[in-house]
Amino acid sequence: MIAPMESIKGHDFIDVADLDSRQLRGLLDLAHAIKAGRWAEKPLQGKHIAMLFQRPSHRTRVSFEVGIARLGAAITTLTGQDVQLGFRESVADAARVLDRYVDGIVARLRSHADLLQLAHWSEKPVINALTDRSHPCQILADLMTLEEVGGDLAKQHVVYIGDGNNIANSLIEASALSGFALTVVTPPGYDPQASVVEKARSIGSGNQLTLTNHVTVDNATAIYTDVWASMGQEDERAPRRAAFTGYQVNQRLMDSAPGAVFMHCLPAHRGEEVTDEVIDGPRSVVFQQAENRLYAQMALMAEIFG
Ligand code: CP
Ligand code: NVA
Repeated sequence: MIAPMESIKGHDFIDVADLDSRQLRGLLDLAHAIKAGRWAEKPLQGKHIAMLFQRPSHRTRVSFEVGIARLGAAITTLTGQDVQLGFRESVADAARVLDRYVDGIVARLRSHADLLQLAHWSEKPVINALTDRSHPCQILADLMTLEEVGGDLAKQHVVYIGDGNNIANSLIEASALSGFALTVVTPPGYDPQASVVEKARSIGSGNQLTLTNHVTVDNATAIYTDVWASMGQEDERAPRRAAFTGYQVNQRLMDSAPGAVFMHCLPAHRGEEVTDEVIDGPRSVVFQQAENRLYAQMALMAEIFG
């Protein structure tokens, strides 16, 4: 049975914290139902969705395109030389053109500020497919994965080790909404965004979030890491490698958390944030996370664009 939810139809989805906990629960229930084959409707029949990418993508692009097709809509994907948001024309102008052609926009932009501008000017709903600040669609799929492997989210403890980046920020919001304990371990100077932490503490109990610079995996049910240099930070890769020494998820660390699965949003920089042994090991759920992008985003699009 799918829980009734407050409608998010026509709303933008910029961050996990745009949802309340009931809406998040409803999305996850629908995502599980789609994956189990208990829901196969086509609420986007006759609609047209645009996807706009300023950054490379594998999982996000393909899972959204497949999901859009399965929900019955047509797709236009814009990359590289197309649109050139903010260069060939302003974000505001581009938004006010694109929204006249399509029924919804999925955008992966370099800058979160530009995404907020796009959403502001577009009269059609906008879904965030990653910015420098957040990656909420990834985290919806990760919550689904955590439920599949560990059941009740409120009984789980995710330890995120690495850069306080878009993944860390969105995990922090998800923890506040769904009540799993979250420990974010970063090197000094690479903390998650203060405004995200503040907002999460205001919506959640705050008790379940721990920020530290010391690697600890006590009572972890999941250990999550991401690249040390995100897209757009390629020039910083060498200094970051130095700063993140000691924050690698390797077998020794996994051995000290025998009850934990290993998570990574992918793509991974093997040999940096994670070793082959861990990512290819029996406790790795990284491909399950990648698969769940499809179902989580289908649920999201069915509710927002449907
Ligand atoms: N995890 C993720 O968003 O992958 P892509 O960058 O390949 O889309
Ligand atoms: N933090 C990574 C996530 C990729 C899905 C990046 O922004 O490049």
